[in-house]
Amino acid sequence: MPYAHITGWGVSIPEKVLTNDDIAQMVETNDEWIRSRTGIAERRIVSPEQSTATLAADAAMKALEVANINPADVDLIIVSSSSPEHIFPATASLVQDHIGASKAGAFDILAACTGFIYAMDMAAQAIRSGSMQVAVVIGSETLSRFVNWEDRNTCILFGDGAGAFVLQGSEQPGGVLSATLRSDGSGADLLTILGGGSRYPASPDTLEQGLHYVQMDGRAVFRFATRVMAQATRDAAEKAGLAVDELDWVIPHQANRRIIETAARNLKLPMEKFVVNVDKFGNTSTASIPLATVEAAEDGRIQPGDKIVFVGFGGGLTWGALTAEWSGPFTGERARQVWPYRFVRLYSVYSRFRSKMLQWIRKVESLIWGRHS
Ligand code: ACO
Repeated sequence: MPYAHITGWGVSIPEKVLTNDDIAQMVETNDEWIRSRTGIAERRIVSPEQSTATLAADAAMKALEVANINPADVDLIIVSSSSPEHIFPATASLVQDHIGASKAGAFDILAACTGFIYAMDMAAQAIRSGSMQVAVVIGSETLSRFVNWEDRNTCILFGDGAGAFVLQGSEQPGGVLSATLRSDGSGADLLTILGGGSRYPASPDTLEQGLHYVQMDGRAVFRFATRVMAQATRDAAEKAGLAVDELDWVIPHQANRRIIETAARNLKLPMEKFVVNVDKFGNTSTASIPLATVEAAEDGRIQPGDKIVFVGFGGGLTWGALTAEWSGPFTGERARQVWPYRFVRLYSVYSRFRSKMLQWIRKVESLIWGRHS
């Protein structure tokens, strides 16, 4: 049975930085309160032209470049998101088209902030079954578009961004070793965006009630998160045949520094084994685990052979953890040709530029002819 290795990674980080002081201009809060309760100092916010799909495609392209894979060789794209582009079509299909992954299947997963763990496990299972060779797993979020910027309980927490991993099959042992996925729907009301679905279709009423915004019982979510993080980490490590103290890294969902510190205490592990960057990005939901991982991979903390548990929790309620041995890009015979990929990428940039130009020409024409008619 083949193993599913993590051979590529990439992120897409919006340029605009929103600091705690900036938020203090909008709602009654302050930098000290936000830092001490959450560990967050700033977060990134998308520009009007960006969206969940554009961030996802950008992160996916970078991950494919690291893995040295031509998009035409991708078999499967899974996007996990709590802020998808639309109800349908799937964000993953838009990414598939955008990056030119002409033979890939594509679908979205919704498991709130735990989505990246779920998506990784689904992709790894597809590779281990032998039916797929290359999968791209993406966590992408624009939660700034679903936050009520007048609600200080939620607007301080969330940020935008995307991260992607490439998973590749190989007979060489390693890669994804185990996973544990859990849900408790009795806590569904603790963290929600209710409006716009089939229960509350979008209407003036749902807008009036703010059902299109994130609603959260912060204290209850905090208690739930501190209860499940350590247990899920232990379960996943045990399934992989590892003791918790054999782990090189724990990469948790970045929701709140205090939640991560509690998990570290419960696991009796030093904070140095946890990758934390919630201070820079806030809670980016499904993107937070790849955003933290890529930072640690790029600055050299994570090395091939390292044993890692990725652990998350979120709305649903859902939680889960996945153990992996870090691989890095395949080399030698297993590496793919990069030049066709560069060509596809160039062509995709050109075709987007061309379609933007055509849109502008049509706009100008309709302005001219509209005024004259
Ligand atoms: N600035 C200043 N004061 C505030 C703010 C703010 N931004 N927000 C709340 N307060 C006030 C409250 O009104 C309250 O005042 P009161 O005592 O007069 O009523 C006081 O601060 C304490 O409020 P708590 O809610 O008890 O604050 P707490 O210490 O629990 O921190 C927080 C709140 C940060 C939201 C915390 O509960 C938390 O992080 N919970 C987990 C949230 C989370 O992780 N959500 C994402 C899950 S992942 C996903 O699926 C998207």
